[in-house]
Amino acid sequence: MLKKTAFSLVLLAASTFAIAADVAYPEKFRDWKHVKSMVLNQGHPLFEAVGGMHHIYANPKALAGYKAGKFADGAVIVFDLFEAIDKDNAVSEGARKAVVVMAKDKRKFKATDGWGYQVFDPKSGKGGLDAKAQADCHACHVSQKNKDYVFSAPRD
Ligand code: HEC
Repeated sequence: MLKKTAFSLVLLAASTFAIAADVAYPEKFRDWKHVKSMVLNQGHPLFEAVGGMHHIYANPKALAGYKAGKFADGAVIVFDLFEAIDKDNAVSEGARKAVVVMAKDKRKFKATDGWGYQVFDPKSGKGGLDAKAQADCHACHVSQKNKDYVFSAPRD
């Protein structure tokens, strides 16, 4: 009986943290295709969360997804976030604040319509989002359901 309880506790822990652990750090994403960049200034509703300068990158599968309007498993999109330094009438990159990721896997991330969300610390490379925080990411991306939950669009 004791053994059985311990076993189900392990299962419970595994299911609670499974999604958070599952998005891999996007190795070498700076070699991928640059999609777009943007600066969010103080006063923007998302400033607290992702204020600063970001660049979005797509791996080859994600690039095909942008074109098709539907992303296949294995597609990864990175939102590379930096401090924006506004000085001498120029805005430039400061320190990296976070590596923010969406990864497509229909089965693994079923709870969030096939997309896994994670925010990696730039120094440790570790992701800190739990399943609840990932659901919060998705709650906003749901507005883009007709574009497979992706906001940005590529350009030539
Ligand atoms: C309140 C709305 C909102 C929330 C919450 C939000 N995002 Fe986004 N996200 C956006 C918008 C808007 C863009 C497009 C930015 C651009 O065009 O440069 C975006 C872009 C992205 C992209 C690039 C792909 C795309 O959709 O264009 C990734 C990756 C991303 N978000 C991950 C996350 C993660 C991870 C979280 C949770 C920590 C999160 N987002 C929470 C609004 C949101």
